[in-house]
Amino acid sequence: MDFKYSGENICKIGTDLLVVGMFKGDKFSGSVKGVNDALGDVLKTICGDEKFDGDLGKSVTVSSTFGKIGAKRVLLLGLGDKSRFSHDTVRKAGNLTAKKLKVASAHVTFGPEFNGGKGYIAALAEGVMLGAYGFDKYKTKNGAETEIENVLIISEDIKDRRFEEEISAAKAISESTCLARDMVNEPPVYMTPSKLADIASAVADEGGMRCEIFDLEEIKRRGMEGLSVVSSGSAEPPRFIHLTYEPHKKYKAALAVVGKGITFDSGGLCLKPADSMRTMKMDMAGAAAVLGIMKAIARLKPSVKVHGLISTCENMTGPAAYKPDDVIRAYNGKTIEVINTDAEGRIVLSDALSYAVNLKVDEIIDLATLTGACMVALGTYTAGLMGNNQKLIDRIKKAADRAGEKMWQLPMDEELRPEIKSDVADMKNVGSRWGGAITAAMFLENFVGDTDWAHIDIAGPAYNEKESSWSPKGGTGFGVRTLVSYIMDR
Ligand code: BES
Ligand code: MN
Ligand code: ZN
Repeated sequence: MDFKYSGENICKIGTDLLVVGMFKGDKFSGSVKGVNDALGDVLKTICGDEKFDGDLGKSVTVSSTFGKIGAKRVLLLGLGDKSRFSHDTVRKAGNLTAKKLKVASAHVTFGPEFNGGKGYIAALAEGVMLGAYGFDKYKTKNGAETEIENVLIISEDIKDRRFEEEISAAKAISESTCLARDMVNEPPVYMTPSKLADIASAVADEGGMRCEIFDLEEIKRRGMEGLSVVSSGSAEPPRFIHLTYEPHKKYKAALAVVGKGITFDSGGLCLKPADSMRTMKMDMAGAAAVLGIMKAIARLKPSVKVHGLISTCENMTGPAAYKPDDVIRAYNGKTIEVINTDAEGRIVLSDALSYAVNLKVDEIIDLATLTGACMVALGTYTAGLMGNNQKLIDRIKKAADRAGEKMWQLPMDEELRPEIKSDVADMKNVGSRWGGAITAAMFLENFVGDTDWAHIDIAGPAYNEKESSWSPKGGTGFGVRTLVSYIMDR
């Protein structure tokens, strides 16, 4: 997709589709008025007929302009309340445009109202690229859909350099988000732990980052028993992955992003019922997001050192599968009594988190499709945010708001801590049904020592069973945008 800008009059521009925006309740003004006048009040008439009032997410289309203006067609998008106009409004507008246009709009032009200042070009471009995403690798092509090839943004007050910078940042972020989406969408027979490690290694090569990959033998030798034990029911060997991005200049801080990489979660011996097992290829979405984040920052070059850590394996029921009643010694020496083999994510993360502590980082942030309980609490579009440091949590929440990803803090309720006390080991891997997302986070807390740590439970937003307004069906790449924004701002 190629992006350009121009200061030309929008009525004169030859383009397949002209996109203009209108705030809620706005009477026709600015560029919308120009277009409406040139079209002899057509826009106004359609808006009246279709009761369009500028609501965000709503739109009207003029499917032919009959040569009255340069554009062949016009899409009028609602921008919602003017007082709430933000980067996210424009990102959504871009997203919606790309989704609306499945036919014959190779050249798209956006009116000047989408450029609200610094970062708006990036947000619009990001929205268009993410909205154009589809995963059709396994479908026989029918050739009916046209892809957007050229995007022209009308803007009078922008300099070449800033435009190029914003577009290249938008490309880095959307390509990385789409990598994470693709990885989640791949079937589990393809996206095995070793395949995931191959992709990690390719991301590292491309971005000039260090990459270490431990195989089963090395995982065992290092005492990462959580990962080796969870993997033992599967014919696929596990991998532990460590990518390092190091800035050229002296760096301000070092942090670790840690991802859960269960490439298929059958539940293990505590087998999931068939209906809950479907979609469990997405249980590596945390790992996919970590690779997306590493890919993006290798291009955007923040002055922060970042370790990307992934524990990846399958959770299966083979003859050597781990069992309820087993006791596991994690990388930091703490012991875990297994109550339920379906609470495997926290067990594989125990090794990765304690490994991160040994790297002496300033902060650890993990992303994991950890609990169904988090989805019960917050629904399928919002991630649960927890941790041991309120300032860190607040900064991540702010970054999520900027990036247009929904996160909500859940409390670390001390009264729930006894839930995961064990009679035979230092802790057990599940408590009762109540507060399951919180007790899972409290379990993880045992492995971060004194390091500032935040945990993002992405079980809901990592995967859409049906298309949502602003993200595609299947893998969403959730977490990439927030953490890239967080790291760039750090
Ligand atoms: N991967 C699941 C959590 C999950 C559920 C993610 C639904 C996305 C959608 C996790 O490993 C799991 O199975 N958790 C159990 C924990 C329980 C056994 C304490 C759950 O949530 O039911
Ligand atoms: Mn599970
Ligand atoms: Zn799982």
